[in-house]
Amino acid sequence: MAGNKPIETRGHITGFREEIGRAAGTSRDSFFTWFDSAGDAEASFIRGQWDFTIHIAPHLARVVGNPECKTVLEIGYGGGRILAAASRAFAGAFGVDIHNRQEVVEAELKSRGLSNFKLLGGDGSHVPCEDASIDAIYSFIVLQHVERIAIWQSYLRECYRVLRPGGAAILYFGRWAPLSLNRARPWAYRLELLLESFFLPAGYRELPAVVNDTNLHVRLGYAKKYARETGFRILGTTVSRKRVPDGLRLFGSQHGLLLQK
Ligand SMILES: C[S@@+](CC[C@H](N)C(=O)[O-])C[C@H]1O[C@@H](n2cnc3c(N)ncnc32)[C@H](O)[C@@H]1O
Repeated sequence: MAGNKPIETRGHITGFREEIGRAAGTSRDSFFTWFDSAGDAEASFIRGQWDFTIHIAPHLARVVGNPECKTVLEIGYGGGRILAAASRAFAGAFGVDIHNRQEVVEAELKSRGLSNFKLLGGDGSHVPCEDASIDAIYSFIVLQHVERIAIWQSYLRECYRVLRPGGAAILYFGRWAPLSLNRARPWAYRLELLLESFFLPAGYRELPAVVNDTNLHVRLGYAKKYARETGFRILGTTVSRKRVPDGLRLFGSQHGLLLQK
């Protein structure tokens, strides 16, 4: 965005571009399973529909009204597994990502009968959309991968800029979760929320990590404060969950924040 200084990224963007490019050069299954480790490309889109239904749609539905006449944006659309579900629900869907395999995702979504979407290339911290042009935004398993809090902050400001007044965003980001991660332990989750300010005294921690591992933990209180300062109203918070075959709901790696402009 004009006027914003570029943010140094220590290379996570290059890393994602290289590895996603490599997966695309291997096979269709390697590419479409790279983003969420599903068994094959088909399973990845089924899981994408599931993630949209559980983690995204119920939150946006509280605020957005009839999606059939609204636009939605995904930050970090990856292989398009969630964007496919969003395109079916909304009048129009945009996806922004830093990888260079837009054409692979576009062809896949078209082969699934979708045409109301547009994929956009991003610089890794800004959204190439007009001010006040989008009704709803979501981001899932992306903001935990950015290396710098400055990038996370930039995306929050960008969400505020591109949302129409009254529009909503459900944003997931990495959380500090040494006791509850991938476990069905509500007590541990509650304890972590209490201890976050002690273990994340700055409000966040930037973590050295390999590509597609967690690079950033952000304290829920810090995220809420920053969102309020950006101008958002906070409508709710949540945590990502995984359902496993024995019926347990395991705590995932992300906090979620539901925001309204
Ligand atoms: C684990 S994948 C998740 C993709 C998709 N959200 C999903 O759930 O299938 C992470 C995605 O985030 C993208 N990404 C990483 N850093 C980004 C950044 N700074 N801005 C936009 N996208 C980014 C990667 O290219 C990758 O496609």
